[in-house]
Order: sequence, then structure tokens, then C-alpha cells
Amino acid sequence: EEEKNLQPRPPVVVVMGHVDHGKTTLLDAVRKTNVAEREKGGITQQIGASVVELADGRRITFLDTPGHEAFTSLRARGAQVTDIAVLVVAADDGVMPQTVEAINHARAFNVPILVAVNKIDKPGADPQKVRRELSELGLIPEEWGGDTIFVDVSAKTGKNIDQLLEYILLLAEMLELKADPTKKAKGTIIESRLDKQKGVVATVLVQEGTLKVGDVFVAGITYGKVRAMMDDKGRRLKSAGPSTPVEVLGFEDLPMAGDTLKVVDDERTARHIAEARKLQKEHLEKVSKGLALEEVFRK
Ligand code: GTP
Ligand code: NA
Ligand code: MG
Repeated sequence: EEEKNLQPRPPVVVVMGHVDHGKTTLLDAVRKTNVAEREKGGITQQIGASVVELADGRRITFLDTPGHEAFTSLRARGAQVTDIAVLVVAADDGVMPQTVEAINHARAFNVPILVAVNKIDKPGADPQKVRRELSELGLIPEEWGGDTIFVDVSAKTGKNIDQLLEYILLLAEMLELKADPTKKAKGTIIESRLDKQKGVVATVLVQEGTLKVGDVFVAGITYGKVRAMMDDKGRRLKSAGPSTPVEVLGFEDLPMAGDTLKVVDDERTARHIAEARKLQKEHLEKVSKGLALEEVFRK
């Protein structure tokens, strides 16, 4: 494909780590909001997307992920669409099962890892122990001659949060992230739900091109036309460029998280592609059911 109008785009950063190590609180500190306190049982259950704009206009798109062990596929999906992973490890707790899982997801998708050693305000905090434990997993701190950046932070007091953002932007600069905003939009469904009033609502991370109100699209086995778009602060948008997460209204049916969304020329094309994919999917399901039955009869 031609890439005539490549322009710098903001980094998309996934925040991962073990349950309650402080991912959402860290993002609250970055955004200066209070999401963590409003969550049911203090547990994140979806991927939250938000855009942080620094005083100088530079932007970072963050995806929060749940640390609870039940949400493996959400964490994997988070790593799949991102440029950088911030691995949050609580300094009083150290490396835990979902810390290891998060590292594996980031590695599977070739996403560079930046370590935020959190909760350093706590009496039992041992940031050096976190470094030793992660070194054993191949994440060697820069100060020990390795190539992984470690930042000691406190999401609670805000200590070193600015430094963490600087390191993220530095790493992003080295990655030379670019996209063509003039192309037809392409993105990934981050999450979707059925809203009683609005109908299907999906969060889309735009990755290529610019998504506009009125655009016709295919997303997995469904399709639609962008009726309205909202940014992470609930503001209505007419268009959304690369690295922007947006809530999109106008889906015919519920898309699945992880599905690719692609803008096409017209509604007929969109419907045809979606219908063909749906038939293929149904066919594959039938075939695999048939195979399962054959297995049963063979025994
Ligand atoms: P899940 O999304 O459920 O995996 O949790 P999380 O990683 O997002 O952690 P969360 O932000 O919900 O924080 C868990 C608990 O740790 C909360 O009670 C926070 O207030 C507390 N916490 C987070 N960061 C810090 C910190 O830097 N210092 C201290 N003392 N407490 C913190
Ligand atoms: Na939590
Ligand atoms: Mg959380």
C-alpha cells in the first residue's frame, strides 16, 4: 500500500500488571481523575481508553486493563493494539502471576516494556527487590546495564509521574510512530456494549486514516455508518485521527472486541462483506461441530 502522507502519531500505551498493583490509580494520577474509586469492588473489568495531553500539546493514548486473573483475553488484546506497555508492579508486593502474564503478552506482540515500580510511598516498599525479580525474567534495568527503563513511582502521592510520562514520550520518539491520516480509516474494536438508549456503542481505536461521521464501515461480521462519535471525555467529534480512541454509534449489530473496523465506499459493499463473513463464520462453526461429532462416533 502507498504511504504518501505519513505523519507522526501519538503513542498508544497499555497499562498492565497484577491485580491491585495500582494501574487505574496510576492513570488517575496521570489524568487527575478518580476512576479507581468509582469502580465496583475496586476492580477494573474492561479496557478503559483515555487520551492525556501534556502542557506542550504532546499526547499519549492510554489503555487501562484489568489485573484480575479472569481477564486474560482483555490483557492480550490490550497488548495487541499498542506501541508501548507500562508494566505496573507494586513495590510492596513484587512480581506476581499476572505480572508474568503481562510480560508474556507484551513479548508475544513485540511491545517494548517500561516498568513502573509503584507504591514506593508504602513502608514495606522494596523497589530493588522488584528489579531483581524482573531481571530474572529478562527485564534488566538500564542502571544495571540492561535496556529496560524502571521508574519508581507513587500513584498515590504523584511522585515521579511526570518522569514516567517523559520516558514514555522518549521511547515513543525512538519508535518513530507514524500513520497516514488522509487514508480511509482503519481501527480495532476495543470494547462494545448494548446501551438501552443509544443501541450498540463501541469503543474504536483509530489506527490508520481519519474516521468521520457519515463513514460507512465493516467491523467483523457486522457493518454500519458512523452516526455520532464521542471522545474519552464525552465530547462530540466530527472526525478522529490515528491513535484516537472514540465511542462510535451506528453499528447494525454488536461487534466483538478485537475485530478490525474498516471504512468502505458504500453501504452495499459493507453489507455484502459483512454477510459473506457471517456465512463463512457459520460454515466454519458447522464444520467444527461436525468434526466434533465424528470424533464422538469414532470412539
Ligand atoms: P485492577 O484493575 O483491579 O487490577 O487494580 P489496579 O491495578 O488498577 O489497582 P487500583 O488502582 O485499583 O489500586 C488498588 C489499591 O492500591 C487501591 O486501594 C489504591 O488506592 C492503592 N494504590 C494504588 N497506587 C498506590 C500507591 O502508589 N500507593 C499506595 N499507598 N496505594 C496505592
Ligand atoms: Na483494583
Ligand atoms: Mg484497575
